[in-house]
Amino acid sequence: MASERNLARNDERTAFRASLDGLRERSRSVGECSISALFANEPERLARLSFECAPLSVDLSRQRLPLTDLPSLFAHAAASGWHAGRERMFAGEAINFTEQRAAFHVALRARRPMPLADDGDVMPQVSATLERMGEFSAAVRAGAHRGAHGDRISDIVAIGIGGSALGPELACEALASDGQPGLRVHFLANVDPASWASVRQGLRADTTLAIISSKTWSTAETIANATAVRDWLLNEGIAPGELHRHLAGVTARPERALAFGVSEAALFSLPDWVGGRYSLWSAIGLPLMLAIGPAAFDELLAGARAVDEHFFTTPIERNAPAMLVLVSLWNSLVLHTQTEAVIPYSHSLRRLPAYLQQLQMESNGKGVDSDGVALDYPSGAVTWGEPGTDAQHSFFQALHQGPAIHPVDFILVAPPPGELAPAAAKLLANGLAQAEALLRGDPGADDPHRRCPGNRPSTTILLDGLTPRSLGALLALYEHKTASLGWLLRINSFDQWGVELGKRVALRIEALLTDPGLALPSDMDPSTAALVERLRRR
Ligand code: F6P
Repeated sequence: MASERNLARNDERTAFRASLDGLRERSRSVGECSISALFANEPERLARLSFECAPLSVDLSRQRLPLTDLPSLFAHAAASGWHAGRERMFAGEAINFTEQRAAFHVALRARRPMPLADDGDVMPQVSATLERMGEFSAAVRAGAHRGAHGDRISDIVAIGIGGSALGPELACEALASDGQPGLRVHFLANVDPASWASVRQGLRADTTLAIISSKTWSTAETIANATAVRDWLLNEGIAPGELHRHLAGVTARPERALAFGVSEAALFSLPDWVGGRYSLWSAIGLPLMLAIGPAAFDELLAGARAVDEHFFTTPIERNAPAMLVLVSLWNSLVLHTQTEAVIPYSHSLRRLPAYLQQLQMESNGKGVDSDGVALDYPSGAVTWGEPGTDAQHSFFQALHQGPAIHPVDFILVAPPPGELAPAAAKLLANGLAQAEALLRGDPGADDPHRRCPGNRPSTTILLDGLTPRSLGALLALYEHKTASLGWLLRINSFDQWGVELGKRVALRIEALLTDPGLALPSDMDPSTAALVERLRRR
């Protein structure tokens, strides 16, 4: 039996390698193909590479990808097990194979039974948590939840980092117009004391609620900040017996939160089958639900659910997340690009690049395949970006004239129908112009210093307004792109073992900095040793 399974696995690997190598072969002949020529020679190009996934539309037609190469990308998806990966994710199977867990974030926004492999339907648990979050949020927003001295809450301090912060922070900023006047949400992530000092400005303990979000309830920065905030509440006059009115907790380790001082009533569970960077839809989203209310939070879930249904049911050649990731795969394997820029032409979406950095780079910045064999092909690209139009005045020079190609995802927001104000028209014109300029280039009047080579690939994603629903859809689109890349590269997109080493080393150095009597370890590199000594001498 085992030998048959090994034979099948070897066959899979062989088929995978053959299709991957076939794609890489294309770099010799397609590296310099002209996107403009593709438009001229492929009359159906725009239709074939544009995708509707309401309330989003995705235009991949300005990517340097000939339509005639699509079959080899679809063949690679089949050979790599993309279809099976999609099925297994929606079936709640343990696709996070190094931690033996499911990656079941789609269940958090589903509205149908979602059995976790053979462990039964998780929807009762999901619904119960959403209901408790809703009641808690409604009570705080209505002023029914009072502080120790009878005051209503005016400020939320959301304590967390990485996946326990980036999603809620992005969404609170993106949907600030849906926020409740008189209820401010502050995010406290960095362990730098300046971070808490900045957040603390203008806060009153009596009207402050701290939400501590940590799946493990062991992340050093979060515990340090939570402790600092708890001490502040006590020092500002909140009696220990009343502290629980000013604390809430979101975690997969409830016993640790209770020990910290969080009450059962303000404690929300996070299942093990939700990865941190995929957790906005869970109780991690509590700060967002407090900001925009339960109904708007449900709209966010609905937007993600619409993309889930599209992703799960649409054939690959019309599947927006799948086509987005196949273009990424093509660019890295064939054009040898190493980064992807995300440029939201929206001040409200200014935290989107930071969110996508964790989602994409913590998921696919991996070095071995599912068999533990070191990769001899590229894994996930470096994600970076800033909002437009600001980015045009900082790094677009490199995008237009630099030798390296960095494909750009332009994120544009269509204003409500009939409301194209002059400033919005200017913003959209710049976003569209940059994509066209990257494509068209400029001969520069034969002055080489002024020449822009053009033929630079980009994707344009257009949101039908910036609403909880369109934001939910956008983030789910990228989640499925991210998970799909893992299946196409045979890597695990759902663990993050690489972050543990730095944490261990930091603990060792922290001890040396705080206890000058400790001898430096003999195996410490000379640079670290010299810097530690220098700091200790101060
Ligand atoms: O160290 C990386 C990481 O584990 C992320 O994956 C996670 O989102 C973040 O730290 C915070 O983890 P926790 O929610 O357990 O505090």
